[in-house]
Amino acid sequence: TEKEIELYYRTVLHVVSTAGKVVNEGFLGKKRVETKAGAADLVTEFDQRVEEILIKKLQEEFPTHKFIAEESAASGVKTTFGDDPTWIIDPIDGTTNFVHGFPFVAISIALAIKKQVVIGVIFNPVLDLLYSAVHGKGAFKNGRPIRCSGQTELGLSQVAGEYGSSREPDVLSAKCKNLRVIIEKVHSIRAIGSAAMNLCMVAEGSCDAYFEYGIHIWDYAAGDLIAREAGAYTCDPSGGQLNLLHRCILCTASKELAGQISPLLTHVDFPDD
Ligand code: IPD
Repeated sequence: TEKEIELYYRTVLHVVSTAGKVVNEGFLGKKRVETKAGAADLVTEFDQRVEEILIKKLQEEFPTHKFIAEESAASGVKTTFGDDPTWIIDPIDGTTNFVHGFPFVAISIALAIKKQVVIGVIFNPVLDLLYSAVHGKGAFKNGRPIRCSGQTELGLSQVAGEYGSSREPDVLSAKCKNLRVIIEKVHSIRAIGSAAMNLCMVAEGSCDAYFEYGIHIWDYAAGDLIAREAGAYTCDPSGGQLNLLHRCILCTASKELAGQISPLLTHVDFPDD
């Protein structure tokens, strides 16, 4: 019910603000950096600590809810995305930024009920930026409503894209090719190193589009809702319906723009989450 969703929303906002303090502490201090799937896929003790805090606090409040979270998945917990209320958590999206002191890092949390995301919260505690949305209620940045640019012309667009952490030659070639083909047609390309923040950039109108292959459900579940609530359009980069388990997204300030970008892309397949 609406009342329950309000309670979930208030609770998660409180929980991210607490966890944000731990992110900030780590951002400024020394941290232990380890690798996961490859030499450029990084994790720190703060990713794990922040995730533990988020899950613990949400579990205390909502003991029947389920969780999908990046570091739990990395440690072998299988991703099961069912109909139960499920919190989808990236404790630090932009871990490479976090390691290098580049301030685009964010806690990303979505709540899905019956597989539909109803709440999205993305908090960058370093820059003190809180993006949030509840389904049907609009998107907000630090409490103020935001709207995407509405841009319909690729030639007038600023587009966000990423290289990601895979160093697999075929994957890298396709990603470089995609950015190469887009740059030719647009004002500029930006790669700020956080899928969640990229989606917020489209939501607030500072980028007109964002696409990426190889990301995970926790990287884009919250940002997808925030962008859509801000008037943006999201889909599978091949043009079909967005699937949160499909590991890719195209998010644009208008449906027209998606129609111009999608045919230009070389599609890269990753195994589903
Ligand atoms: C990463 C960021 C980045 C994307 C990578 C992701 P993480 O998330 O979203 O933008 O290019 O593919 O892995 O690992 O820092 O949570």
